[in-house]
Amino acid sequence: MSVKHFHEQQDEGRDLELNPLFSREPVHVPRYVLPDGEMEPDTVYQIVHDELMLDGNARQNLATFVSTWAEPQALRLMAECAQKNMIDKDEYPQTAELETRCVHMLARLWHAERPHRAIGCSTTGSSEAAMLGGLALKRRWQRRRRAEGGSTDRPNLVMGINVQVCWEKFADYFEVEPRYVPMEGDRYHLSPEKAVELCDENTIGVVAVLGSTFDGSYEPVAGIAAALDDLQARTGLDVPIHVDGASGAMIAPFLDQDLVWDFRLPRVASINTSGHKYGLVMPGVGWALWRDEEALPEDLVFHVNYLGGDMPTFALNFSRPGAQVVAQYYTFLRLGFDGYRRVQQTCRDVATRLAAEITKLGPFELITDGTRLPVFAFRVRDGIDNFTVFDVSAALRERGWLVPAYTFPEHRTDLAVLRVVVRNGFSHDLADLLLEDLRRALPRLSRQGEAQHHADDADGFAHGAETKNPRRPGRH
Ligand SMILES: Cc1ncc(COP(=O)(O)O)c(C=O)c1O
Repeated sequence: MSVKHFHEQQDEGRDLELNPLFSREPVHVPRYVLPDGEMEPDTVYQIVHDELMLDGNARQNLATFVSTWAEPQALRLMAECAQKNMIDKDEYPQTAELETRCVHMLARLWHAERPHRAIGCSTTGSSEAAMLGGLALKRRWQRRRRAEGGSTDRPNLVMGINVQVCWEKFADYFEVEPRYVPMEGDRYHLSPEKAVELCDENTIGVVAVLGSTFDGSYEPVAGIAAALDDLQARTGLDVPIHVDGASGAMIAPFLDQDLVWDFRLPRVASINTSGHKYGLVMPGVGWALWRDEEALPEDLVFHVNYLGGDMPTFALNFSRPGAQVVAQYYTFLRLGFDGYRRVQQTCRDVATRLAAEITKLGPFELITDGTRLPVFAFRVRDGIDNFTVFDVSAALRERGWLVPAYTFPEHRTDLAVLRVVVRNGFSHDLADLLLEDLRRALPRLSRQGEAQHHADDADGFAHGAETKNPRRPGRH
């Protein structure tokens, strides 16, 4: 919310008036001013609890990739660790130890050549992990350029226009020119040829996304690596890859074991994932890993006290909750490889079945079918012009379903889709209920004379599949 908007609300805002039945005493509570005195905890609990009833139901939120269900034991551990600060490695050495174990597990899962040499850290999510991955690429490139006597004035990063908004932020905040490969025809993500075309001596790296936010498709990481190998053979340019596996790095290892996308490719320098997406932990935890010490320049690493010695850290935040890291470790132990495989396979089964059922309804056409990430995007068929995907999204919202609708970026701004993210806890049963609500809405939508909702009405809850800062020359 802008400061201006905030103050306008403040001027207009009435105090909260509480029903005496629900509170210990009838009180007026200011909305935007710190209250003068104290209140009973139960009264405050009731006020806050009641306001939060207006939030959407997280389990019906099919826009988010982030976990909305966890086992009570994981939640209990999180409550037990609520007071632990992740940065206090010396004070909470066992929490630090669990973080290290998680990094080792991920290094093995992603086939690090020498897992004991892989380095990594927890973060607040994939966005912070992306910033760290990008910074490491930038610092490595600067060093190389200086050693060659070249200029370090104009770094650039090559990526598909479908990258999540965190990469747009990275480029903006850390002053790296973003070089976006536009979509073309039915290609909705980065291709090896187009990636290489944009690389030059100022390219700090290529971002390959495993699990595009727009449609759940995987970018061809091995193909991009091969094209960059070829570029190196032809020109000497050595461009590393960072894999943004926010979602896919916790799907592909369990369901697509033959797909080579990770540290098996020598060109992959670093990988991030969101522990709070298909890592199955409540928000917010992410992970960033580098294949070895060379991939993470030592001068970016800070050191904190740890059991009388020191421990390297690389993070944007200083203080950060330890609870999510502990919950990640719990979930790794609880599910193991087989458990993760079963959970992810169920998500994929629900996604592919729901996608197939939606096409049978008639007016819709799939862009993706849920066979990569358990995520699919679909559009309204050509020739139907009396309702839009935005109308469908609004109709589903009447029943509490949050299904985002948004237009694709440059060169496919003509294409508007709905997207469903299937997560742990979205069962076949719930999918049937969604389908039933969609089926029920269709006769009304088909009867309406003209479309009621358009791209401008979209609420922008597409989870990063849209440019968040329209004032900057971004991706539109
Ligand atoms: C591909 C991709 N990268 C990065 C992010 C940002 O992740 P986080 O929400 O964990 O910061 C997302 C979020 O949806 C994503 O889909």
